[in-house]
Amino acid sequence: MEIIHISAECYPAAKVGGLADVVGALPKYQNKIGHIAKVVIPAYDTKFIRESDFEVTYDAWSNYGNNHFSYRVLKEKSNKLGFDLYLIHIQGLTDRPNVYGYGDDTERFVAFQIATLDWIAQWEHRPDVIHCHDHHTGLIPFMVANCLKYQSISKVPTVLTIHNAQYQGQFGWEKLYYLPAFDLWKGGLLGWKDAINPLAAAIKCAWKVTTVSPSYLDEMMDNARGLESLLRQERWKSVGILNGIDTEVWNPETDPMLGKSYNLKTVEAGKKANKKALCDVFQLDSSKPLFTFIGRLVDEKGADLLPDIFYSALHQHGDNINVLVLGSGDNWVEGRLNQLKDIYGGKYNAYIGYNEQVSHEMYAGADFLLMPSRVEPCGLNQLYALRYGTVPIVRRVGGLKDTVIDIGDGGFGICHDQTSVWDVTHSINRAVDLYNDKKAFKAVRKTMMKIDHSWDKAATNYIELYQILK
Ligand code: ADP
Ligand code: GLC
Repeated sequence: MEIIHISAECYPAAKVGGLADVVGALPKYQNKIGHIAKVVIPAYDTKFIRESDFEVTYDAWSNYGNNHFSYRVLKEKSNKLGFDLYLIHIQGLTDRPNVYGYGDDTERFVAFQIATLDWIAQWEHRPDVIHCHDHHTGLIPFMVANCLKYQSISKVPTVLTIHNAQYQGQFGWEKLYYLPAFDLWKGGLLGWKDAINPLAAAIKCAWKVTTVSPSYLDEMMDNARGLESLLRQERWKSVGILNGIDTEVWNPETDPMLGKSYNLKTVEAGKKANKKALCDVFQLDSSKPLFTFIGRLVDEKGADLLPDIFYSALHQHGDNINVLVLGSGDNWVEGRLNQLKDIYGGKYNAYIGYNEQVSHEMYAGADFLLMPSRVEPCGLNQLYALRYGTVPIVRRVGGLKDTVIDIGDGGFGICHDQTSVWDVTHSINRAVDLYNDKKAFKAVRKTMMKIDHSWDKAATNYIELYQILK
């Protein structure tokens, strides 16, 4: 089958979070099992996107409403990614250093979606599936089925994967004219609660809706920022497929970003060396357990509670633990996490910012990884932690619930029920006990490193889903 993934992010070209990791891996594994999976994202002005690595394959004009733009389709030349990567370059709109966060994001992503469909609609053949990811590509299922301009591809099945229903991309009805012409009576398909809502439109119009874990599918029925009733109505065509991880990128035995590589047999020595190097850089004490957090500093991840959690744990455990944070987001949280450095220097440190290299070093060097998320559709951090022999401490929610089993139940992680300072500090206490029981700690590491979370199974699940649509 030929599958076209359309997304705002794709690792390594443009990454903000887990969406990029999924879109940079799933197509690769679909290709490995004999399909043709391609990826289309906007051409941002990022480090990875250097003009010399791409060739122009198409060049045309288009418009959203009265706004005309010229665009180019660039194809990545190296063939090293495991899939064909296409970038849509729209001068003045896509070519910015950040993926999101601009006042005209609506216009940027509407233009991106229109240019992408214009390009696909003039191919001589039809792809078998158009697979959209999150709200940035949420207008596509509607446009494919209803816009006269796209009649040539109107029968191509569309699939939506919801990576996170918290973000929906709403904009006002006054921008309805941005979309290419369609029968106006169909306009209701675009709306939800007084606005055009691209995620809602995709839930209504896509042939199938998937999300990234079975538990998150259930949770969305009661917690999806206003879309609950719509999701319940469309549940008949929805399925939760647990994400995998790219075991070629996330492998402690071959990871070029690590000071010392290791595998199941050499895990103790390997982690010790990586921990020492990490602690030296961040002025921590490698003889004490190292607790870490990696991620976006937003409420959804429980980041607003981190300063109090660390304050409480460091206060309680005196000189017996270390904490290291890597993340960026909410300014207030960033500020408070920075302040803690002055109080707890030598046992606490924070890197405020985004750094892929440091993240790999932390998965390898840490003893524990905290994920006190309020909402976690899947979560990849815990899967990377498992692969690198780092014990995840998670709230039982979404994909965390589906992938981490508590040590008390014969598992390999530490779980709690609420995103609260009390619950997390209690889990930290349990983690300190585990760390001190050297035999149990080693056994848990071995168990978790053996778990297979590669994409092989999920890639097949998606293919089976597309095949029903043929
Ligand atoms: P989400 O997509 O909701 O942010 P995931 O757990 O699915 O959460 O994926 C997060 C991804 O982003 C992981 O690959 C994680 O290592 C990475 N990441 C998050 N924050 C940072 C950061 N500050 N620096 C480097 N990598 C980060
Ligand atoms: C979203 C979710 C995260 C998930 C990722 C990849 O960003 O917040 O839980 O792992 O998408 O599907």
